[in-house]
Amino acid sequence: MSNILEIEWLGFRYPDSPRKAISDFDLAVPEGEIVVLAGPSGCGKSTLLRAVNGLIPHMYSGEYTGSVRVGGTNVKESSMRDLAQKVGFLFQNPENQIFMFTVERDIAFGLENLGVPRPEMRARVDEAMRLLDIGELALRAPHELSDGQKQRVALAGVLAMEPRLVILDEPTSLLDPKTASELVGLVARLRKELGTTFVVVEHRLDLLVKVADRIVVMSDGRKALEGTPAEVLFGEDAESYGVSTPSITRLQKMLAKDGLVPQGELMTTAELATSLEGGRS
Ligand SMILES: Nc1ncnc2c1ncn2[C@@H]1O[C@H](COP(=O)(O)OP(=O)(O)OP(=O)(O)O)[C@@H](O)[C@H]1O
Ligand SMILES: [Mg+2]
Repeated sequence: MSNILEIEWLGFRYPDSPRKAISDFDLAVPEGEIVVLAGPSGCGKSTLLRAVNGLIPHMYSGEYTGSVRVGGTNVKESSMRDLAQKVGFLFQNPENQIFMFTVERDIAFGLENLGVPRPEMRARVDEAMRLLDIGELALRAPHELSDGQKQRVALAGVLAMEPRLVILDEPTSLLDPKTASELVGLVARLRKELGTTFVVVEHRLDLLVKVADRIVVMSDGRKALEGTPAEVLFGEDAESYGVSTPSITRLQKMLAKDGLVPQGELMTTAELATSLEGGRS
């Protein structure tokens, strides 16, 4: 499978900052994966996403080394206009992504900027609303919606651009647990239906471990750990990098240590219970 994202030896220092925000960073993401980016506050997660969507180096100047390629194209050598069609980006706060007076105009905003012809725009907006199940909100005012609905509208605007890669920076931080879990379910469905690749910065690993193919842990601008959720979370080091292991996984780890359950795959509560029952009979 080809890599939709290839980061090679990336380094970046913001102007006037004494130290690099990103150092010697390598990452290759095959098309269709869901990758979670974790690590303590200030380790460089948002900076890395800026280097993927092109805000770095096009909007933020600074000392830049190495390369970032999206779909084979070097981000540094692309225009923001081209990148906007390749990389979809969801801000943490959907308020920052709401511009228009109705939901459908809002979803069409990016397409209008690109000068996409009306009939195609209509079709793409309708498809995005269908995918996110927000058709009935089409004529509502975005600022009157709930946080979860706003998040869906913002994501619909991103999807209408038909990007192959979508990057999300802490998308659930403003959402209640139920809405957050719905958003994660949505990411999994979009990957399945459209084959979209997702790179998600997220602290709530409990929600994402079930759908993620890979977790990358950053520390001080560098890649500290990389592996499947099971490899990273069962490893010795994750917690020392400030990654909070979901409590069910911590329980599995303890039980596995005593030989009561296997430790190959991450188990859900129900799977743990079944495994324990089986062990007793
Ligand atoms: N615009 C900026 N100008 C100068 N320094 C910045 C800027 N944005 C971030 N930094 C610095 O770069 C480093 C990485 O910050 P970044 O925001 O990428 O971390 P983060 O992992 O996203 O943190 P958080 O989890 O708090 O969002 C930090 O030391 C931060 O202070
Ligand atoms: Mg951040």
